[in-house]
Amino acid sequence: MKVWWKESVIYQIYPRSFCDSNDDGIGDIQGIISKLDYLKDLGIDIIWLSPVYQSPNVDNGYDISDYQAISKDFGTMDDFEMLLKEAHNRNIKIVMDLVVNHTSDEHQWFIESHQTQDNPYRDYYIWKEGKNGKEPNNWASVFSGSAWQYDETTDMYYLHLYSSKQPDLNWENEILREEIYKMMRWWLDKGIDGFRMDVINKISKVQTFEDVLPQSQQYMRPSKYVSNGPRIHEFLKEMNQKALSSYDVMTVGEITACSIEQAKQYTGDYENELNMLFQFEHMDVDLGEYGKWTPIPLNLVQLKKVLTKWQYGLADYGWNSLFWDNHDQPRAVSRFGNTEKYWADSAKMLATALHFLKGTPYIYQGEELGMTNYPFQSLDDCQDVEVFNAYKELVQEKKVLTHEQMMKGICANSRDNARTPMQWNNEENAGFTQGTPWMKINPNYKTINAKSQINNQDSIYSYFKKLIELRHQMPIIVYGKYTLLEEEHPDLYIYTREYQDKKLLIITNFSENEYDYALHEYSDGKLLISNHHIDIQKTIHIAPYGAYVIQK
Ligand code: GLC
Ligand code: CA
Repeated sequence: MKVWWKESVIYQIYPRSFCDSNDDGIGDIQGIISKLDYLKDLGIDIIWLSPVYQSPNVDNGYDISDYQAISKDFGTMDDFEMLLKEAHNRNIKIVMDLVVNHTSDEHQWFIESHQTQDNPYRDYYIWKEGKNGKEPNNWASVFSGSAWQYDETTDMYYLHLYSSKQPDLNWENEILREEIYKMMRWWLDKGIDGFRMDVINKISKVQTFEDVLPQSQQYMRPSKYVSNGPRIHEFLKEMNQKALSSYDVMTVGEITACSIEQAKQYTGDYENELNMLFQFEHMDVDLGEYGKWTPIPLNLVQLKKVLTKWQYGLADYGWNSLFWDNHDQPRAVSRFGNTEKYWADSAKMLATALHFLKGTPYIYQGEELGMTNYPFQSLDDCQDVEVFNAYKELVQEKKVLTHEQMMKGICANSRDNARTPMQWNNEENAGFTQGTPWMKINPNYKTINAKSQINNQDSIYSYFKKLIELRHQMPIIVYGKYTLLEEEHPDLYIYTREYQDKKLLIITNFSENEYDYALHEYSDGKLLISNHHIDIQKTIHIAPYGAYVIQK
């Protein structure tokens, strides 16, 4: 099926770090408005706005205390409405973050819920008795420790899959579900263009709340009891019918662990659940013994296998989201590229490898400039609740990592790498604020910034602009059939796309090794885009981190 959200390029804004209009050091909505022309010039179609709702900010806005109010840090509802209008005037759509697996513990529903066992809101959350003076079961929180928090007021525990300030909502409760759909309709009636749904495959839990076995650690990840649970498809179909179906909007679900079969159920054209999903299998290929904190070198064959599995898996039914970067990932150019010797080439190469895949591409703020990871020196440079909890658990309590090992992990993979302020120019604070930025700015802003790239034909920014333009012009990039070549090659990722009588050959080099590659039927083709100029011949020379797209 041909639809607009398959033909769009989406740009993710992390409002706190995008642009500060009033110099309090925090990015805000007026700041975003002031940069809409920049986004228009880049050519994107849709903005995904990370949460801008009222929140005590334990997890930077993913802990919402009022779904229908704008955070004072970011502005007012009038500012939001102005953003929507100004974006629409420029033909840019706005997709909001929908965080409904949990709320903040400062949400009115939870304040009520925790008071007494017979409070009308009690059942909006998941409350259980302790067992032998301990938690109700051995489930672990994603942010370390137990997933249960004891609450003295009623001598019971509540479930929190994330921080203890993010209690999980009880989707078994029909009144709660109706409240959420009503809130969604309220935003849709304002004219927003869709939702990115936070950890949406966790809203249905297996109701037995049993221990994860065999028990090898004190607390165990409860994935099989909380991911893609028994009523998930029923809930999403209901949400679709009651909130989404009367609007022409798009949805993307964050689905942390799922199979191709499940993904087809979530995103298939005739399922009426979601339009597309973020899955993270390709983000797991370089994780080691303690996950992201102990990364291992990239195995490109493995990465190609995962990307290809999803390309083939959703080729005809369902739809992929394409991303390297977001607010939960380190910067891909630091992770899979080479920022020392081949910074610009590797940023363009990664963009090429991704933007020619089938699916809807996402650009995370700063990715279009080749922004890199931050050189963290100590915990004082960090902001993220995930880092502090993991440090406490792995370094202080379990003592399985030393301080130095953990700092290495933080530099490689902490979410804060993505959250440093946007680098607009080479002036004070990178043009992000005239005040004191809420988070330190990457010291490389003097060389890596928007101003130096916008009018430079060779810049990473200009390269992204061209990639977006090509996608808008060429249906083959949106709808063409994907085929992997050179499956076992350790450094080159090469694939083709085919549509009607057209063909594209995409060649990307994930290494500093150089290769000669025979083009065969493409040797009379035309170079569509590349990060190095070459003449098309029978055999081409592939430069370190080279990227070439040849059209036939
Ligand atoms: C998602 C968000 C992440 C947040 C978590 C809990 O994974 O992307 O930033 O911490 O959900 O809401
Ligand atoms: Ca501000």
